[in-house]
Amino acid sequence: MSKPTVVGLFAGCGGLDLGFKKAGFEIIWANDFDKDSVKTYEENIGKHIVLGDITKIKSSEIPSGFDVLLGGFPCQGFSVANIKRSVKDERNFLYLEMLRIIKDKRPKFFVAENVKGILSLGKGEVMKMIISDFEDIGYKVDYRMLKASDYGVPQHRERVFIIGNRIGCENPFPEKTHGLSNDLFNQNIKPYVTAQEAVGHLKSVRTRDKPFKLNGKTIYNHVARMNVSDKFWGRKHKVNQFDICDYLKKWREGSGWSTKKIDEYFGYAHTAGHWFRKDNNSGSIPNPDDWRELKKLLKFDDKYDKQVTELEEKTIVFEQSLRISNWEEPSDTLTATGPEIHPNKKRRMSVRECAILQSFPDNFVLHGAIGSMYKQIGNAVAPKLAEKIAKLIFKLI
Ligand SMILES: C[S@@+](CC[C@H](N)C(=O)[O-])C[C@H]1O[C@@H](n2cnc3c(N)ncnc32)[C@H](O)[C@@H]1O
Repeated sequence: MSKPTVVGLFAGCGGLDLGFKKAGFEIIWANDFDKDSVKTYEENIGKHIVLGDITKIKSSEIPSGFDVLLGGFPCQGFSVANIKRSVKDERNFLYLEMLRIIKDKRPKFFVAENVKGILSLGKGEVMKMIISDFEDIGYKVDYRMLKASDYGVPQHRERVFIIGNRIGCENPFPEKTHGLSNDLFNQNIKPYVTAQEAVGHLKSVRTRDKPFKLNGKTIYNHVARMNVSDKFWGRKHKVNQFDICDYLKKWREGSGWSTKKIDEYFGYAHTAGHWFRKDNNSGSIPNPDDWRELKKLLKFDDKYDKQVTELEEKTIVFEQSLRISNWEEPSDTLTATGPEIHPNKKRRMSVRECAILQSFPDNFVLHGAIGSMYKQIGNAVAPKLAEKIAKLIFKLI
């Protein structure tokens, strides 16, 4: 009997596709517009991936008659970590490409993955819009937030999975298999897989560019960024945003400049609004260059010049980019921007360690520069979780 077939959109390095392949599906076509991701995918999953922008690819160029469409449509526009997220961000609408292809090809199932932020975007309206768009073309649609660590992946990665089908069945979501070891309500649950269990063997192993043998196994991509602290230019003197705000408001009142006009003058959308807002969350002090420019407009005196404009180099004490990875529990979510610091505090987690924490197999080799490899891994669906979803869909097909 021939295998059920899959097409993978926004395939990246292929985490989601790999899970489906392992569950017994044949992937017949895939797409991504990132060169490095495509190279990684080709070498590890198959040559069926096409490099190109999906918005420029006609449905007629994609094979027909496949069973499942996969698509982790881009999350940048949606991410809670991305402060610039916006309902208008055109990347938010790349799911429409997926919708177009589903409409044209009518697969039995589709699976889309996205970041948690998608649920709150536009106060939930964006998610409603996406679901109703898929329902309108005849699919039964459900979504769930799944945490990869609950399925034996050594990473507390929470992502939203949207599954749809047109064959009249319930959309399947896998049962949790792992959790805290003292869960009295579910004795069948296995303990979480910790970072130490997954990558402990590489803890003291020197990183290097070339593959090498360790206990008879070849280790690929054990390369890492080495920065474990960061410097930045911060204000030299203590300064209170509320005081600056009162001060700027006073000078603005006599100047004839409205906040809106000031924003227009600087070419900002809302930044000036934040300078005139007394709010611990969104109020902000102009940076030194803006301060000097603002002084020309509002003609204020020198009272706060020193506090606002004198900077010194400081060490970042805490920031997401400087988090130290967990060790005795699953790691926190790996992101596309940068790896966490290894608990040995000598380096960042290596690309290989990140790949393992995402449940990629040891022989899955990443291609591209180091930043690109970290990005491909951070963007991926954990293959082990993808495989669990795929197996349930396989049975229904
Ligand atoms: C979140 S990642 C998908 C990861 C993938 N599902 C996995 O499991 O490895 C989104 C991908 O969409 C790709 N992408 C974004 N916009 C695209 C476009 N217009 N055409 C093709 N690919 C695009 C990006 O290069 C990125 O690899």
